[in-house]
Amino acid sequence: MTGHLEPGTTLYQRYRIIGLIGSGGMGAVYLADDNRLDGRRCAVKETRLLPGLSDRAVQAMRDQFHREASTLARLDHPNLPKVSDYFSAGDRDYLVMDYVSGPDLHQMAADAHRQDRFLGEAKVMDWATQLCDALSYLHNQKPPVLHRDVKPANIKLTPEGRVKLVDFGLVKPLDPDDPQTMTGLHGVGSLPYTPMEQYVDEIGHTDPRSDLYALGATLYHLLTGQAPPSAQARFLNPSVLIPPRRINPALAPALEESILLAMALHPHERPTSIGEWQAALTGKPGPIAPPGAPATVSWNAGWRVIFGQNLWLIGIALALLSLALAMTLGLIGPI
Ligand SMILES: Nc1ncnc2c1ncn2[C@@H]1O[C@H](COP(=O)(O)OP(=O)(O)O)[C@@H](O)[C@H]1O
Ligand SMILES: [Mg+2]
Repeated sequence: MTGHLEPGTTLYQRYRIIGLIGSGGMGAVYLADDNRLDGRRCAVKETRLLPGLSDRAVQAMRDQFHREASTLARLDHPNLPKVSDYFSAGDRDYLVMDYVSGPDLHQMAADAHRQDRFLGEAKVMDWATQLCDALSYLHNQKPPVLHRDVKPANIKLTPEGRVKLVDFGLVKPLDPDDPQTMTGLHGVGSLPYTPMEQYVDEIGHTDPRSDLYALGATLYHLLTGQAPPSAQARFLNPSVLIPPRRINPALAPALEESILLAMALHPHERPTSIGEWQAALTGKPGPIAPPGAPATVSWNAGWRVIFGQNLWLIGIALALLSLALAMTLGLIGPI
């Protein structure tokens, strides 16, 4: 018993399930007909609450879902599927959005890899421009919306050649006045594309630069045919990251440089906004970072300031070093 909805099931007296599109640990995405708008096909994303949660935790998750869903429903961008409805039923939450046909970019990269070729640089750059537009739009909301799970499998390519960023599962409004929104109730994204600051999200260091890391890692994958090593692996041994041009020598040197800049381990080493990064890449001025966006650390900042701003990184470093030491001493086996 999979717990998946059967075709023909009607949700919310409106959405008739046609079939399963995909499923993951926390739920599933279904193709459905909208009974109220004849001929409209939609994608219904179902998220199951974990069993055994306390009433308080269930309420917190449901509040978070409704907050996120209402934020998403207000968004309107050509590179994001339009979210049209949301509701909860039993132990499940549902988000209804436009159905986007076509393959995802993970499949596109895998197909190219199987055929022993690389995806064309011009085509990937066109997708990158569209993704930058979508991310800048999200980051310029007030408060900013972070996607937090940008990766090839979450980007769909329509038959018209437009890319759409799907999977809003980890999206959260970044409201500095509301500590609840800073708490990662959904966990972290997929390792090769997740910056290290997102591993320790409770400390509240995830910002638009985290999506920039994921975008850089996504472009790395699309242009080299292989996912990059995780930030954690790179932290322990920087040489595991093979520069993109060593895998695909046809790439422009400036593009390689931009990808590596977006993938800088420390957020302070990355440009402060997607627009700034894009401007450096294309040589054109990008949108100005919104007010309140984090500033880069100035080189003459005092050690105390630098230490304070890097506490979380020092924490991770100590944890990883203890792990490495424990493995070296044979206290724990390889993980
Ligand atoms: N709006 C949509 N239209 C078409 N397919 C979608 C849509 N949203 C998600 N999908 C597809 O459903 C699958 C899982 O969706 P996703 O939102 O990424 O969930 P998960 O959290 O399980 O990764 C993916 O293969 C994705 O391509
Ligand atoms: Mg996904």
